[in-house]
This record gives sequence, structure tokens and C-alpha cells, in this order.
Amino acid sequence: MTAYDIIMKKRRGGELSEAEINQITNGYVSGDIPDYQMSAFLMAVCFNGMTSAETTALTMAMVYSGDTYSPSAELGDICIDKHSTGGIGDKITLITAPICAACGIFVPKMSGRGLGHTGGTIDKLESIPGFRTSLSHSEFISVIKKAGFAVSGQTGTLVPADKKIYALRNATATVDSIPLICSSIMSKKLATGADGIVLDVKVGDGAFMKNYDDALALAEEMIAVGKLAGRKCTAVLTDMDKPLGKAVGNAVEVIEAIEALKGSCPDDIYEISVTLSAEMLYLAGKGTPEQCKALAEDALSSGKALEAFEKMIQLQGGNPDVINDYSLFGTPLYTREVISECDGYISAISCEKTGLLSLELGAGRKTKEASIDPTAGIVFSKSVGDKINCGDVLGKLVTSAECDLDEAERRFKGLFSYRENAPEKKSPVLKIIRS
Ligand code: URA
Repeated sequence: MTAYDIIMKKRRGGELSEAEINQITNGYVSGDIPDYQMSAFLMAVCFNGMTSAETTALTMAMVYSGDTYSPSAELGDICIDKHSTGGIGDKITLITAPICAACGIFVPKMSGRGLGHTGGTIDKLESIPGFRTSLSHSEFISVIKKAGFAVSGQTGTLVPADKKIYALRNATATVDSIPLICSSIMSKKLATGADGIVLDVKVGDGAFMKNYDDALALAEEMIAVGKLAGRKCTAVLTDMDKPLGKAVGNAVEVIEAIEALKGSCPDDIYEISVTLSAEMLYLAGKGTPEQCKALAEDALSSGKALEAFEKMIQLQGGNPDVINDYSLFGTPLYTREVISECDGYISAISCEKTGLLSLELGAGRKTKEASIDPTAGIVFSKSVGDKINCGDVLGKLVTSAECDLDEAERRFKGLFSYRENAPEKKSPVLKIIRS
């Protein structure tokens, strides 16, 4: 078959064979298939979707476009990975990975950088002075052996097909397709080689998946692909209609994660961190879901998770003193405290707009090449459901960029909606789907 025939078959809604999917994927990676044909193919997938068998074939073709790893073979024990589909204020990896490490399982975490209004775990960790995220494979394994987990950037040889296809999707309005998102995420997870994967599928205004049904469909598809590839997978749907926790940025989020590991954090962070950790421990065979939840809670309250985090920072070249001295993260040049001009209960905090404001303050990157300001961000003093009086502090904006702080303050105030009565409290964990 020619590339033209494959595109036509998908355009007409046909089901492609594994050989056809390999042909178009490998041909694009090698340069034999040009951008314009791959773009047409991706658009046909956006319109006509893919079966689970097709999505699995695409995922596996992408996996084998680069290096693959088997960390459990190297470490001699089960390895469990965790992935978030991306949100605002999402520092959960910094809490779940040390919890699981403290409970005796290995977590090989390869993370990406942030682009646009959602932050990346790698950028957050790099706000720790000296912290290195470019680890050789042997260093990565050695840190996991000693600390129970390591967090490394994705190397250029991990799923090169995804890098090339993702860049094309970004430029051709073909990002928001469930089979394409699923193959992009799962190819990286499968190539990294963990035995089990817990997927935090974010749903809401600040997430890729804006509504529950789409998030559920993505979660089910990722589990189906994981299963067909022989991995144990669990998906947890979590709320992203408001920022997670109170800090959005890089250093400010690491500080919030350290506070959580010290036992002090907002309820949403606690509930999501414990739920995801418990699911990771459950996949590792550490007991029933209830026993795993108790293990996760104990790792947090005993301080063992904090110890694992400190060890990982040290092994990856970071200054572990940041745990007790937050001034070591550096001081932003400008801080603007924002005062409320309203009375009432906070009924909503616009999530996507929070991410965009944090980007404007310098905490994110607008283009892949841009650098970020590690000290920039937003720290809320109040959360959804809190009672607020005129004159109360709503939060603060921090930045070292020469941006218009008056305009930033105006945008910050605009994030909040109010009502007269206390809104009903909702759990941020919407659904757990075990394979
Ligand atoms: N994250 C990814 O890695 N890929 C996508 O397509 C979307 C989110």
C-alpha cells in the first residue's frame, strides 16, 4: 500500500492493519513520508478515530521508534510509574513518588518540561539549586536503587516518533484526538518500561479533557492499550476545574510539595496524593486498596516520604537544605499582594486562566526554546469554598520579570467567582478505573 492509500482508507473510516500503521509511522520517522501526508493522516484520525487495536499498533510503532528500557530487570524488583495528563498546580508526582519509595517500591519517573499554561515536573525540580534532571541511564538506575525513585528528563532517544508527530500535531490542530493523545502518552510510558502505570487523568477547565465523558474515554483507551501491551494500569479521574493546591509555578510548587511531605497541605493535594500512591502500591501488590491507603498515609505522617525526597534531591545534585530553608530557592524581584474587594464565599477559581497568568508572570514557557523564571508564580491564600471579607488577602503574585503588575493584579482578581452561601464540598477524586 502507498501512504496515499493508507490516508484514503482512514479518511473513509476503515480500520488499518498493524502493518499499515507501522508503515506510515516508520515512514514518517525515517523521512520517507513527508509532513503533508502525515498531517492528512492525523487529520483523518481526528475525524474518524481509531479502534483500540489500531491505537495499540500506533502506540507500539512509536515505542519501537527509539530506545526501550526494562528498569525492573535492572533493579531486580517491580517498578511502578505514574503519569498526569497535565494540569494547573500539579505537583502530585513530587509527593506520590517519595511516598511510594518510602513504602518500598521503585518509581522510575521520566518527565517532560512544561509548554504553555501547564507546568512540567522537570521545570519545578530544576528550581532547586544544583538539581540535575539530565541523568545518564546508569545514573538514573543508581538513584532509584538508593532513593527508591528518580526523576529524569526524557532523552532524545525515548520515542522520537512522538517528538516528531507531536510537533506536527501542534501545528496542524490535531492535538485533541483521543487515540493520538493516548498513543503519545502510552508510548512514552511503555518505552520507559515500568510494570504498572497509574494514570492521573485530569478533567475540567484547566485540563486537556474539558469534560468528564472525554476524560473517561481517554482513560479507558489508555488502560486498554496498556493491557494489550501487557502492563497493569489504573486510571484515576481527578478534578481540574480549579488549580490544585494553593501554589502555581515552579519553586512555589516545590515548597508546597515539601510542606505536604511535612504533613501540612490543602485537602485536595492530600486526597489526590494518597489515592494515587495507594493505587501505585496496589499495582505493586502491597495489599488491598485499603491497606495500601494506610501505608501511603503512614509514609506521609511518619516523615519517611520526606526522607526519600531529601535523598533523591541530594543524589541528583540538588541542595537538600531547601527542605528547611525556602530562601535557598531565591527571591523574586517583585511581589504583589492582592486584597479582596468583595465579601462572600469563593465559588470558583478559573483554572485555565490561572495557568495563563502564571505563564505571563514567567513561570511557564510560551515557546519550546523559552527559559522560565523559577521563582515566578501565584500563591493563593484562599480556596474554593472559603469565606472571604473585603480587605482579606486573596493571594500574591511573584515574578522577576518586568511585567505589568497592575494588569496582572486585575487578571488575578478576575479569576474568582463568589456566591452568598458556602458551596458544597466535592471530592477531587472523581473515579478510579482498575484494569
Ligand atoms: N501529553 C502528551 O504527552 N501527549 C499528548 O498528546 C497530550 C498530552
